Amino acid sequence: MPVVRFPMQPYPTSWYRVADSTDLVHGQIRRMHYFGRDLIAYRTLAGEVRVADAHCPHLGADLGPGRIEGDEVVCPFHGWRFDATGSCVEIPYAKKIPGEAKLRSYQVAEFDGVVAVYYDELERNPDWSVPPMTGGEDERQWTPFARKVWQIRTHVQDIVENGPDVAHQVVVHNAVDIPEMEYEIDGVTIAGTMIGKYDFPGGPAGGVRVVGHFSNIGLGITNIRLTDHLDGVEISRQLQLCRTPIDGILVEASIAQRTKSLGDIGMADAMNEKIVQATWEDFEKDIPIWENKIYRSLPSRTEFNRGEKPAVLCQGEGAIVKFRNWSRQFYTDAECGV
Ligand code: FES
Ligand SMILES: [Fe+2]
Repeated sequence: MPVVRFPMQPYPTSWYRVADSTDLVHGQIRRMHYFGRDLIAYRTLAGEVRVADAHCPHLGADLGPGRIEGDEVVCPFHGWRFDATGSCVEIPYAKKIPGEAKLRSYQVAEFDGVVAVYYDELERNPDWSVPPMTGGEDERQWTPFARKVWQIRTHVQDIVENGPDVAHQVVVHNAVDIPEMEYEIDGVTIAGTMIGKYDFPGGPAGGVRVVGHFSNIGLGITNIRLTDHLDGVEISRQLQLCRTPIDGILVEASIAQRTKSLGDIGMADAMNEKIVQATWEDFEKDIPIWENKIYRSLPSRTEFNRGEKPAVLCQGEGAIVKFRNWSRQFYTDAECGV
């Protein structure tokens, strides 16, 4: 029997990155696997992205090797055609189309260079969206985003818990002291400010002061606006942290970062490349911890703890409790175990 590592459902309701915008061009089908499902994505003639289940409702062929004609997906097995809403619009050898001949399709949004899907176990439509970071008047002063992607054996929620868990910043991430954090919970968003000092290799003695404004929008996407205060210079960065469940075991995580130019975009590019490497390396320090830890429930939720002892929290860790209470809204199972 596989060990069930987490007491909560693997696919909480949220917006999740499933591709980069540049991955999708009209005329091609992109095959994907997230939420334990096989999926296809493609671009319509008007440039909109569609995401749907990959297996044909007829006799189950994989639509990945099918073709796009106009805005329609044509199945490679018997040639049934599906429009951009997922409805079958033509069966080459039958006049009547069965009402159930429909692909499950997903709500899609495109922002900040990513294609995001709203996943909900109960197939409800979203009543919230992820506010973009890009598109301001100073857009030309920013470098492009540079992104790295990892597959991590964990649960999306455990990665997000890294934010309220400020104490690990000292032990894992070279923070000089435990960072100060203020945050507010507003519906599906936790937003706030974190101020800390971090030691960087070759950096100034005493560390670099970093001020970060973060917002977790659901469990899939976190936007962070950072300012590094370095030798009297302020460097502005934007980070987009994404986490998407692949199946009940693996999560695809990615970090994209861009840096604002102080006047010389070439120099900003070089700086972005250097700082983003440090950001990625810093994130990678968490990975072995996530992959090997167990999930300890809150003392108030021991019935979900699979025989393990509950978490023992100390003074100053109330943010973790608040985070978990907030997270509970993203599960469709009322007894979600968070
Ligand atoms: S399986 Fe797709 S058309 Fe038959
Ligand atoms: Fe961390």
